[in-house]
Amino acid sequence: MKPEYRWLSEYDKPKYWSNFSPIYFKSLPFLFGFYFNLNDNKLRKFLKKQKGKTVDLGCGNGRFLAYADLGVDFSKEMLKRAKRTGKDVLLASILDLPFRDKSFDTAFMADTSVIIKPTELKEAYNEAKRVSKNFYDFLAEDRTYMPFIMSIFQGIHLPLQITAYLALFLSFIVDRFRKLVVSRGESIC
Ligand SMILES: C[S@@+](CC[C@H](N)C(=O)[O-])C[C@H]1O[C@@H](n2cnc3c(N)ncnc32)[C@H](O)[C@@H]1O
Repeated sequence: MKPEYRWLSEYDKPKYWSNFSPIYFKSLPFLFGFYFNLNDNKLRKFLKKQKGKTVDLGCGNGRFLAYADLGVDFSKEMLKRAKRTGKDVLLASILDLPFRDKSFDTAFMADTSVIIKPTELKEAYNEAKRVSKNFYDFLAEDRTYMPFIMSIFQGIHLPLQITAYLALFLSFIVDRFRKLVVSRGESIC
């Protein structure tokens, strides 16, 4: 079972992400963020094993940029923070990447494909595949059941903190046994 994320019309506006940048991940209740981070280690381990030139598509503030040579994002504010990792960054849209075919050994998106307009997702995947030899698409639910369990609670209007801690408690056991789901975005291409 996969959570159904609702795509919001502001998602494809760089300004929305620039406004979000200063609080991205900081607005989460402490333990919630800590737990996400713990589960992100599955992705970190996977990315660490990749060889050659790597690009992080939709790098945001640079959460996974340590495992790439270059970060691409369409939000200036996100890139300003991503730059602090010391890695190269480039302001561009994933839908129109300014790279030659197969410029990278690996391209990855982390929690970014859900942000792209559903009708443009195929185009984004095609661009990612065009510029790289290997493309991987990762979503939060590949690392933890939290978003799925949170989505169940969405209908019940509890305060965010309570929902987050309930979801954390429930997902802990499942997450301990789950491996990282590796997706190349093949399902729709
Ligand atoms: C949810 S954030 C994830 C950021 C980062 N990958 C992480 O895991 O922390 C999604 C990012 O994708 C970027 N983004 C969304 N659509 C994009 C597009 N068409 N081209 C480039 N970046 C895009 C946003 O600016 C935002 O920084």
